[in-house]
Amino acid sequence: MSEGNGSLPERIEIIEVGPRDGLQNEQVSVPTAVKVELIERLAAAGLSTVEATSFVSPKAVPQLADAAEVMEALTRRDGVRYPVLTPNLRGYEAARAAGADSVAVFAAASETFSQRNINASIAESIERFRPLVERAADDGVHVRGYVSTAWGCPFEGEIAPEAVADVVARLADLGIVDMSIGDTIGVAVPGEIEPVIAPLLDFDSDVRIALHLHDTRGMGIANALEGLLLGVTTFDTSVAGLGGCPFAPGATGNLATEDLVWFAHRHGIETGIDLEVLVETAQWISSTIDRPISGHIAKSRLWPWDSGDDA
Ligand code: HMG
Ligand code: MG
Repeated sequence: MSEGNGSLPERIEIIEVGPRDGLQNEQVSVPTAVKVELIERLAAAGLSTVEATSFVSPKAVPQLADAAEVMEALTRRDGVRYPVLTPNLRGYEAARAAGADSVAVFAAASETFSQRNINASIAESIERFRPLVERAADDGVHVRGYVSTAWGCPFEGEIAPEAVADVVARLADLGIVDMSIGDTIGVAVPGEIEPVIAPLLDFDSDVRIALHLHDTRGMGIANALEGLLLGVTTFDTSVAGLGGCPFAPGATGNLATEDLVWFAHRHGIETGIDLEVLVETAQWISSTIDRPISGHIAKSRLWPWDSGDDA
């Protein structure tokens, strides 16, 4: 775990979630080949983790019904992780059969959202994850844990930081080390990251905390800065700001990957990502699926000093 001392880190890790969080929420049907090309372009831009798809019920998320085809068609790069969402053992088995070696389970800090999203209470969801996490441990598969609605729920409103800490503790109890704390509907404002995240950073030195910020109200970059100053060094973002959860009314896309990369490079923080290639990818997916780019950087002119020198 990193320790925040009010200064910026030398390097951050960015987890690209566009192909999953982004495309799960698109109204148009995106061809499998386009999904595969998007994942491959993102890996080529230097993203070391590209969340590829979800092995969920195709009735719940028809947009990702081709999860197995996507995983099978993918040309993997050495050193790049392609995690997939798995809500239950059935999804885990399907993901493994399609070649996945990194998965994520997803819980929520709000009971109502948990029911709407995965048709289970928080306690039931943890029990569903238990055999999955055990199997993954036997298989040597990495498991990440999401905690959604950490700053607000579209059905219950405000969520207490203690509710988030409780779910993190339950996931940690299963043996999950990497956790992603989600502002699912983009309601957090700067000043509100600390009360939720600081206790988690102090919670257990084995647990690593990432921020998953939807940029619905334009607060994503400011909230990311607050996280950085607290010592968070892993962020989930989405190319072109794609995204949203179909079960969270009003949710729009994640903080755009290129916005966070630009911000990081301007502060001399390494990302390992080639900003120009990333921006081209944002422009390509936006025109290919005919969806306007959210975020700013892919719509603005890049100056030579914006690219950073670490790509
Ligand atoms: P359920 O209805 O309680 O489950 O759904 P069930 O076991 O009764 O099964 C219902 C049907 O789904 C059955 O099919 C099962 O076979 C099938 P039927 O007999 O009706 O034809 N099924 C599956 N099919 C494929 N893969 C599976 C699977 N499991 C069951 N793994 C379930 C429970 C969890 C399956 C369902 O509610 C679901 O799939 N939900 C997905 C929700 C989802 O993907 N939400 C978006 C991702 S979360 C998110 O975006 C937030 C995040 O970004 C963080 C943040 O922003 O905060 C991560
Ligand atoms: Mg999300």
